[in-house]
Amino acid sequence: MKITAIIGGSGLTQLASLKLIEQQQIKTPYGMPSSACTLGEIYGQKVIFIARHGNPHSIAPHNINYRANIWALKQMGAEQIIAVAAVGGITSAMSPARIAIPKQIIDYSYGREHTFFAEAGQAVQHIDFTHPYDEALRQRLIQSATDLDIQTGGVYGCTQGPRLETAAEIIRMQRDGCDLVGMTGMPEAALAKELEIPYACCAVIANWAAGKGADEITMSDILKNLEKGMADAETLLQHFFSGKS
Ligand code: HPA
Repeated sequence: MKITAIIGGSGLTQLASLKLIEQQQIKTPYGMPSSACTLGEIYGQKVIFIARHGNPHSIAPHNINYRANIWALKQMGAEQIIAVAAVGGITSAMSPARIAIPKQIIDYSYGREHTFFAEAGQAVQHIDFTHPYDEALRQRLIQSATDLDIQTGGVYGCTQGPRLETAAEIIRMQRDGCDLVGMTGMPEAALAKELEIPYACCAVIANWAAGKGADEITMSDILKNLEKGMADAETLLQHFFSGKS
């Protein structure tokens, strides 16, 4: 199997099933990544883990050094990336505590360092981003869900955060075609594509998006749903690495 990197999101700052080999603090031309990269094994497969928001969880979505994270994973030898991320559910099937493996992205974020191809004097490059997620990796994740109840598609809308959205913003996003809303999907996916690392997202639904559920979104509800969803995500990953899919 390819060497797999897992980017852990909110609710997943470490992987219980990872047998530690070593930890490395990688320096990159773009600065320091969010956390040390942990190299380990799951069912004998090489896995690299990084905590997107740092460990402990302290880096807000707009302050994450996405370029350093992706660069560090490449330097560690990552050949594919599974991005675990907490999201809000917009459309009716995307209910809290479920997992979704999105198929498309709409990017509403701004002001983030979003490309490796911006050095002065560097030839302009335009990567193909028609399919932001690697389809083969998506299918393997979907197969690994076995008896878990997951959504096998959907459009991920990436907002800037760190605040949650207004109800009107969510209505607009739904009109645009978004099923899920998160704050970290971009530029992460595009940077992985620029470095030609197959990338897919395992989205854990933490709450109904603004205006779609209770009148107010509370941290305690989010944490409760994330606990169940992230436990399922870990099960899915174990099936992925054990080949039990
Ligand atoms: N909006 C944006 N990002 C999120 C949400 C949300 O409702 N829930 C978890 N991450």
